[in-house]
Amino acid sequence: IGKIGVFTSGGDSPGMNAAIRSVVRTCAYLKVECVGIYRGYQGMIEGDFKPMDARSVNNIINKGGTILKSARCKEFRTKEGRQKAYDNLRKEGIDAFVVIGGDGSFTGAMIFNQEFHFPIIGIPGTIDNDIFGTTFTLGFDTALNTVVEAIDKIRDTASSHNRLFFVEVMGRDVGHIALNAGVGAGAEEILIPEENLGRERLLESLKRSKESGKSSSIVIVAEGDKTGKNIFELKEYVEENFPDYDVRVSVLGHMQRGGSPSCYDRVLASRMGVKAVEALLQGKTNLMVGVQDNELILTPIHKAIKGHTKIDKELIRVSDIMSI
Ligand code: F6P
Repeated sequence: IGKIGVFTSGGDSPGMNAAIRSVVRTCAYLKVECVGIYRGYQGMIEGDFKPMDARSVNNIINKGGTILKSARCKEFRTKEGRQKAYDNLRKEGIDAFVVIGGDGSFTGAMIFNQEFHFPIIGIPGTIDNDIFGTTFTLGFDTALNTVVEAIDKIRDTASSHNRLFFVEVMGRDVGHIALNAGVGAGAEEILIPEENLGRERLLESLKRSKESGKSSSIVIVAEGDKTGKNIFELKEYVEENFPDYDVRVSVLGHMQRGGSPSCYDRVLASRMGVKAVEALLQGKTNLMVGVQDNELILTPIHKAIKGHTKIDKELIRVSDIMSI
């Protein structure tokens, strides 16, 4: 392998730039050429490439977003699209690539590998932490800090007005952000898709906490939770059944994906980039770099996509105890 491509794909996450930097610098260190591919698979199809050397990634370790841009690409889902991408990679002399993204991006890479026997390694980059084969995805830790900071601020106004706040956090299919940030921010209740205990139980819990002397409360709701049809419907339900409370909704949205990465995410990204390039040069392929017990491990990419991440039951228990 003489030339490695690197790109970011799908929803961006803090730490992606640190991972790009690591891949580029590891290539430079090991005297392999490196090419940045802009806008993920879209750029691959359009031949949007730029050679990268160690200096082209100066001063990006601290930056949120991704300097290579990101995109979700429909054309890559077609055989013709993938053929175009392959032809462009060959024209550019790229022998392998590192894909930084989530499960959609890994699925694309896996199919590409099957069709063209093209060597690929994945680095998990998503704030949702919904990838099997790693305890942490890049951006998860930063997003948690962002969410906790936002909820701390909401708490100030909630307690000044004796209000109940429903705060929606990201997590299309999983409740990792909700559960961890909920415990970290001292939420009264945490609603996640993995554990739907129903609306009545929520009401009882809110009543209990009011009776116990709490004047304000914060309920964290994961985006994918189905306790109510949506967070606004949940608000109405609580208002109807519990008129004592003045209820407000705050949807944190895409600000959770931005910001300077935490030290943890920067270190993890740096480690994963080195491991990804080394793995490719050792002839490995179709794997994802992950971290478990603080050791880097490689997981077959199909397992990373298909495997379910487990919600931390202990954390649910801790949250229940803390919200007495
Ligand atoms: O990055 C994952 C995620 O944050 C999900 O939690 C969310 O549903 C989704 O991205 C939204 O992304 P977009 O608006 O870019 O489609």
